[in-house]
Amino acid sequence: MTITWLDPADSAAMGRWYDLMVAVTRHDLPDLPTPSRREHAARFAYAWPATTEEALLAWDGDRVVGAASYLLPQAENLGTVHLELIVHPRERRRGVATELLAEVCAAARRHHRSLIEIQTVRTLPGGAARDEAGYRYLTRRAHRPGMTSIRSRWQAPDQAGGDDATLAEAWTHADGYSLVQWRDAAPEKIIGDVAALQSRLTLDAPTGGLAAEQARYDTERIRRQERTEQGRGHRSYSTAVRHDATGEVVARTKLAFESADDTHARQRITIVEPAHRGRRLGLIVKSANHAYARAHEPRLRVVDAWNAEENSHMRAVNTVLGFRPVDAWPVFQLPV
Ligand SMILES: CC(C)(COP(=O)(O)OP(=O)(O)OC[C@H]1O[C@@H](n2cnc3c(N)ncnc32)[C@H](O)[C@@H]1OP(=O)(O)O)[C@@H](O)C(=O)NCCC(=O)NCCS
Repeated sequence: MTITWLDPADSAAMGRWYDLMVAVTRHDLPDLPTPSRREHAARFAYAWPATTEEALLAWDGDRVVGAASYLLPQAENLGTVHLELIVHPRERRRGVATELLAEVCAAARRHHRSLIEIQTVRTLPGGAARDEAGYRYLTRRAHRPGMTSIRSRWQAPDQAGGDDATLAEAWTHADGYSLVQWRDAAPEKIIGDVAALQSRLTLDAPTGGLAAEQARYDTERIRRQERTEQGRGHRSYSTAVRHDATGEVVARTKLAFESADDTHARQRITIVEPAHRGRRLGLIVKSANHAYARAHEPRLRVVDAWNAEENSHMRAVNTVLGFRPVDAWPVFQLPV
């Protein structure tokens, strides 16, 4: 086996890496859509704002059997590396991941990073059965998760209408607010409020025992994020709540279609400004956004949401909307 640095201009290597991603997804997360080929091809040209990415490939002859790709945050969390480590299901327990991880540790040191953050998947009681190789790999090396996210899934009901009744009841608790909705890029006149709300997200969403600094968004960072999403072929639907008395945007949520499979969306960014919590705005904004997305995406059948296990408020909202737990995603921070 040989390990090489990925050259993003090497389209053959990019293609082999993509084939590996598809094989791993089919084995480990068969209920997720096939990874987007378009997004993979665009990942270096359309990097996430304030991050850079590097990747190592493990080769057996002309086959890529393992890959370690990592994001290096450039604005905050300057001591952290966000790693994705995958090995082909037929090539596991031959030491591929161990060799890749040793290279990632050396690279992390060169970048003056002290933590490698990585997540994996586990079976939940009553949930989908998962191969727990990643969890075993990490815990056998004495690592312990700093937090666990629960993935829950909404599936389209056979009959429409459930959302309408839920939404109508919630509005009786929320006088003096109105909705703003948009696709892809936020309207110019609320972009400042959207950035301020998104900056609260990493401050307010529970992160358990993980070391994580706040990600601060200004208008430019939001616009760069939108350009990255567009370049990667994502499309999204957002709903925000405006406080009529002040005109301020005080809540926001987003559903994103990130693959070629238009039956599947991911729940992203839900946040309510602290002074406006307790008025059902979380439920209102999510429920209205579902209806908005479904009106434009008649093929939508499945939405997945990831929430910290201890995020009881958000998970309760999801339960009301019909989300049900599927699997658990423990997050580890390995000291370098
Ligand atoms: C986790 C993963 C990257 C490991 O790749 P790998 O090349 O098989 O890893 P290595 O051969 O270097 O080490 C395997 C070790 O993991 C542990 N392990 C993996 N699968 C296991 C299993 N089914 N039962 C018990 N231990 C297991 C063991 O400690 C094993 O060492 P051993 O074979 O000497 O007992 C691979 O299983 C994978 O791609 N999983 C899906 C993606 C994922 O979860 N990524 C996050 C990774 S931390």
